[in-house]
Amino acid sequence: LSAQTKITLQADQAKERINPEIYGHFAEHLGRLIYGGILVEPGSQIDNIRGFRTDVIGALRDMKVPILRWPGGCFADTYNWRDGIGPKQNRPSIVNIHWGGVTEDNSFGTHEFFDFCELIGAEPYVNLNVGSGTVREAAQWVEYITSNNPSPMTNLRKENGRDKPWDIKYFCIGNENWGCGGHMTPEYYADLYRNYATYCGGVKYKIAGGPNVDDYRWTEVLMNKTQHHKFLMQGLSLHYYTFPGRWEDKGSSIVFDEQSWHQTLRHTLRMQELISKHGEIMDKYDPKKQIGLIVDEWGTWYDVMPGTNPGFLYQQNTLRDALVAGINLNIFNNNADRVKMANIAQMVNVLQAVILTQGDEMILTPTYYVFKMYNVHHGATLIPMNIQTQDYVMGDQKIPMVNASASIKDKTVSVTLCNLHASQSTKVEIDVTGFEGKTATGQIITGEKITDYNDFGKPEMVGLKAFNVAKPKGNKLTVEIPAKSVVLVQMK
Ligand code: AHR
Repeated sequence: LSAQTKITLQADQAKERINPEIYGHFAEHLGRLIYGGILVEPGSQIDNIRGFRTDVIGALRDMKVPILRWPGGCFADTYNWRDGIGPKQNRPSIVNIHWGGVTEDNSFGTHEFFDFCELIGAEPYVNLNVGSGTVREAAQWVEYITSNNPSPMTNLRKENGRDKPWDIKYFCIGNENWGCGGHMTPEYYADLYRNYATYCGGVKYKIAGGPNVDDYRWTEVLMNKTQHHKFLMQGLSLHYYTFPGRWEDKGSSIVFDEQSWHQTLRHTLRMQELISKHGEIMDKYDPKKQIGLIVDEWGTWYDVMPGTNPGFLYQQNTLRDALVAGINLNIFNNNADRVKMANIAQMVNVLQAVILTQGDEMILTPTYYVFKMYNVHHGATLIPMNIQTQDYVMGDQKIPMVNASASIKDKTVSVTLCNLHASQSTKVEIDVTGFEGKTATGQIITGEKITDYNDFGKPEMVGLKAFNVAKPKGNKLTVEIPAKSVVLVQMK
């Protein structure tokens, strides 16, 4: 059974750049992300470069990581950067209070983070501590990272082996300060933000900790209290996670039925509503859209895999996660005028990870392949789109069957399409105004079952495959998109 979808692309109206930073990632000191995920485990014989896993570096370079956020998350508001510099044997240990109460030995600190960013070709994005730190500590960390002038912090960095300052644009001031970052009111945080931002002089792009999901009052207060100090804030962060169920009862990452699939995708589609509503408030104070909405935490959050540490947030990643990733990335592209960066949570072994590791093994998740497929959009120009598609109905809930975005770069039109339906394919007619394609190619991510995933020691179930597309006829292209799939179609 096939449905009908019609897409009109106004290639002659394309003007908004899709920031590559929309394809960003996030690495917190949480579970097995840093230790065992990107760093080799103690005693392991696997290939590494200065302790970083060669397999993970290779996979990330191949997928492309435009930007990497660190050190948290909740961890950021407990972190004293001075614990993570200097000879490793002298670094103090701390207790990671938010994530399992484990001991953090601080062997991965500022120098290691920037080294890793260079190895994977990512721009760094650092989150400062507001919850338990001081303005002076934050200002000195910025100076340590960015200063080239003789100063105590510059000298300290040089003593620790790094002569030149690092090249960095983005800093966030606090994280979830309505919650794990201090349970503050928006008024209190906004005042603190202004205070911190004043003294973090070397920062080119300062991001304020933003609202929790639909806390529109938070956005209103932040925008209002910084409106006469525009130089203090270039971005406002937003966090929104997709749970199939409720926070108290999230559901399994691998055992689920079609109803849970439908509900998960419906919950993820809410990202558009949140961007629009927070965006409307931002528009009041910033009609020229000079302040970016920075969705620096998004992705699925399920129950942890049975038998794993509840504080480590380790979950598997199925075809459902591929759809969640495809939908969110399409939404970010389509809102490129306001969304200037987004960071999936989190890169390796935590939440909606692109890579999972187990001892010496590594697997690439369905989400990995979506990021790899979508890298055609990095820095491309967004093509405005009109889409008419059928509803995908489940009980009394309905969602659009197809979700898409399109861009143009190097005279190539790229359209990424998600067919949300678990069992129905759809014929998609794409009409491009102001562009004639001579050839078309495609790629697809799909599986036999909605619950398919890649597992250790087993053949890969969900990967990136070539997808046959008929030749375009003038400015028209027709493709049949299988059920439960993410597809890339490119016209030249
Ligand atoms: O990504 C896991 C946690 O989710 C982050 O530490 C926090 O910012 C959010 O609540």
